[in-house]
Amino acid sequence: MLNRKFDLENPLIKIEGLQKIFGTKEVLKDVNLIFPKGSTTVILGLSGSGKSTIIKHIVGLMKPTRGDIFVNGINVATCSENELREVRKNIGFLFQDGAMFDSMNIFDNVAFPLREHFKLSNKEVEKRVMEMLTMTGLDAKRVAKLFPNELSGGMRKRAGLARAIIMQPKIILYDEPTSGLDPITSDLITQLIIKLQIELGVTSVLITHDMKESFKCADFLAFLFEGEIIEWADNLAFKNSSNPYVQQFLSGSKDGPIQFKD
Ligand SMILES: Nc1ncnc2c1ncn2[C@@H]1O[C@H](COP(=O)(O)OP(=O)(O)OP(=O)(O)O)[C@@H](O)[C@H]1O
Ligand SMILES: [Mg+2]
Repeated sequence: MLNRKFDLENPLIKIEGLQKIFGTKEVLKDVNLIFPKGSTTVILGLSGSGKSTIIKHIVGLMKPTRGDIFVNGINVATCSENELREVRKNIGFLFQDGAMFDSMNIFDNVAFPLREHFKLSNKEVEKRVMEMLTMTGLDAKRVAKLFPNELSGGMRKRAGLARAIIMQPKIILYDEPTSGLDPITSDLITQLIIKLQIELGVTSVLITHDMKESFKCADFLAFLFEGEIIEWADNLAFKNSSNPYVQQFLSGSKDGPIQFKD
């Protein structure tokens, strides 16, 4: 948490009245959320509540049933493919499963966005790839030659992160970047998220179930419940929220308004 002032009036990303229905299931009912420029926002919520669905809408991988998603003023729900391509140039996305192309080694996977969007010499590409792999705590030389299925889950996650940040995007969406990682590697990733925010002014959206890591880096936290954001506050205010749903979630108790069916 940086304790900085953010421009709440002109957020870099703004979600308005987002509804998403899959078949007959209304996963997102009416999501309204802002992401101020240069901030880190953590989205919290139960498993299956629709967190990944929200960030897939921000990159235009999913189209809403209803509602708008503005990224830097462009409505990704309705814009053209060309505009979407421009928007995506500025967004790094770490998928929840660290999705990689299985037929490419890690070097080529991480280099992929760079080769897609820029004309760089092989030498420059190599320099950037090795830098990014090292930054995420991987043994770059060794890992670059390996294929995704030769990596552990945690290593794959870090390689996915290297790929997400290689373009030095203005916006980074992290879908559970530390799940399945040991506490030390988790902290390394969290510190990296903070570093990117401070040094490059990145605006981050972070989905995580790791409360300790959340409170280390979040400027704002949002709680998604039954298709709506029922709490949004800055770090300190969220921690002290009097919302009974948030309190129960933070305490991890089975007793409270959130009830599970057996
Ligand atoms: N492409 C899809 N087609 C149909 N249903 C989907 C699709 N994507 C997501 N869903 C459904 O939407 C709901 C929310 O899924 P989502 O992955 O967004 O949840 P989540 O909050 O990210 O959960 P987790 O914490 O487990 O990752 C789930 O019930 C899921 O089955
Ligand atoms: Mg998810």
